[in-house]
Amino acid sequence: MLITTSNPNAPLSSDITPESVYLERRTLLKSLGYIGTGSLLLPHWANAAIARPYDVAPERTNAPAWLKQKINARQLQANSTGESLTPYDSVTTYNNFYEFGLDKSDPAENAGTLKMEPWKVTVDGLCNKAGIYTLEDILKPHALEDRIYRFRCVEAWSMVVPWLGFSLADLIKRFEPKSDAKYIEFTTLVDKEQMPNQRGGSLDWPYVEGLRLDEAMNPLAIMAVGVYGRSLPPQNGAPLRLITPWKYGFKSIKSIVRIRFTNTQPKTTWAVMAPSEYGFYANVNPAVDHPRWTQSRERRLPASLFNPNWRPTLPFNGYSKEVAALYRNMDLRQYF
Ligand code: MTE
Repeated sequence: MLITTSNPNAPLSSDITPESVYLERRTLLKSLGYIGTGSLLLPHWANAAIARPYDVAPERTNAPAWLKQKINARQLQANSTGESLTPYDSVTTYNNFYEFGLDKSDPAENAGTLKMEPWKVTVDGLCNKAGIYTLEDILKPHALEDRIYRFRCVEAWSMVVPWLGFSLADLIKRFEPKSDAKYIEFTTLVDKEQMPNQRGGSLDWPYVEGLRLDEAMNPLAIMAVGVYGRSLPPQNGAPLRLITPWKYGFKSIKSIVRIRFTNTQPKTTWAVMAPSEYGFYANVNPAVDHPRWTQSRERRLPASLFNPNWRPTLPFNGYSKEVAALYRNMDLRQYF
């Protein structure tokens, strides 16, 4: 691990407590007793890592050479969020990527089978520039930038992650959506050889997510190709994933192979699996609880039994200024 924190007392990623909430969500079926004591205090070591450029991650050997070159040509951005970054080790070993297994450690252990090259993305539906694009076609015109975002999982844990990516709005404009396109739908690869857990029926594959087109055009929405200054590890959704920081993490679909423009609301994986629990909008909202646990607070990783690191959840994950206008006349209890 190249990422170090300046304080030796910082919790190790191995201290992360297995989260009972995700076990419950995994099966979707059992009810949950979710009670804990809250502490709103930042740990004493947290401030040390704020406001300095982050240490980059190890170079990935399986990323295409042209992508490494593109990524390494940039300047790192300092963290000006006022919050400590979640260590690289936590970001890359505590994952949800059900195509590789249901436990948080499964993606890091199993996703090495994912091949980055060749990678093609089919663009279709209501747009003028439909076609099959290589990853290089997709990325070529876009400058990559650091976006340090809070990331809030529906399971009530959160991170602060230095993603590396480019504006989704800029990508969408290139495909020239038609005037009747109202939504954008994203689809993950289906390949039982590369994604072993697709042999089982834990989800209805492929994983599908979507946004209203005006949400997708919001400047906060990015397509990520890297994290911590290097290309994405497979467990984090390489080579191309969505990041919408004001929404719960399940919106941020990984390893995308299809982008479709449509005039009907996409049938998104979790909203189809459990419509009473996961809505299409998935906006972070402390006032609307999940039916089985509160959404009013979150554990900021790294966390442990002795330092659960609870903090209050913010409306739109703290990005209200940027996105609240998108939902001005909507009842967010109904459209959750
Ligand atoms: N995308 C695919 N294809 N498959 C998944 O299982 N899990 C989602 C989202 N994207 C998922 C996915 C969920 S529930 C979360 S919280 C985030 O990915 C986790 O992203 P991370 O592992 O990089 O933290």
